[in-house]
Amino acid sequence: LSPRNPRVVAARRLLRRSARSTQRAFLVEGPQPVREALARPGDGGWQVREVFVLPAAAQRHPDVLAAAEAAGVPVHVVGTEALASLSGTVSPQGLVAVCPFLDVPLADVLAQPPDLAVLLAEVQDPGNAGTVVRVADAAGAGAVVLGAGSVDPYNPKCVRATAGSLFHLPLVTGVGAAGAVTDLRAAGLQVLAADAAGELDLDHVEVDTLAAPTTWLFGNEARGLPAELRDLADATVRVPIHGRAESLNLATAAAVCLYASARAQRHATSRR
Ligand SMILES: C[S@@+](CC[C@H](N)C(=O)[O-])C[C@H]1O[C@@H](n2cnc3c(N)ncnc32)[C@H](O)[C@@H]1O
Repeated sequence: LSPRNPRVVAARRLLRRSARSTQRAFLVEGPQPVREALARPGDGGWQVREVFVLPAAAQRHPDVLAAAEAAGVPVHVVGTEALASLSGTVSPQGLVAVCPFLDVPLADVLAQPPDLAVLLAEVQDPGNAGTVVRVADAAGAGAVVLGAGSVDPYNPKCVRATAGSLFHLPLVTGVGAAGAVTDLRAAGLQVLAADAAGELDLDHVEVDTLAAPTTWLFGNEARGLPAELRDLADATVRVPIHGRAESLNLATAAAVCLYASARAQRHATSRR
């Protein structure tokens, strides 16, 4: 297909947020993320809508095409120009999939509350948000909640930064962060607000506290957490800064905090 083909034109529109919200669909790029999308269980009828592929990528990744065929997902072979027009990167990797939105209502997540969750309050950088989804997945968290005013998780940069983890755990979007804190706590998760000036030093938090079901709350890259959200949390926790850095990058702080909980929770489970 050429860049002017109506299917390619329709898919290209999804690079814009307005088209993504109208169609409730987004683009996923690269062999591994497309593989993850095709492997995602189709609960609730969720399924990749279509795949665009360069001939060379089709030859290099026959497993991806076989998975698309097995799932009944249409595959379109496109030229370099058409593929590049669907890509947010300068060196596209030859495969792009159109996927329906993945987010679920918070109530669905809370029906079987996870031991570990993340709540992002007005996080703006797509790379940070995507990296948090990836680290949450790696640490075994059961949900990522993007509070209202946060970046669009279906932004191509954010999708790329998740490296496929977007397809591994439930994502909740557009809920008020304060309401989410209340709901998560009512479902049995303590809420720990990560804050560079937090009252507790993470290295001194009791292991039993870290082992309890937890939602970690992280704030905006420039402004941090608003006072009213910090006040709603069960505790504010700082990752100690031993050098002269003012704070940590949000995704780095998330990695440290989530793994502290994951470690404590897993030790507690293996002791039982
Ligand atoms: C780049 S920081 C925001 C810095 C901002 N100047 C402030 O006053 O909080 C973004 C988020 O990362 C987390 N964070 C950064 N450094 C942290 C630290 N040392 N301990 C705990 N959380 C941290 C917090 O959730 C923070 O809201």
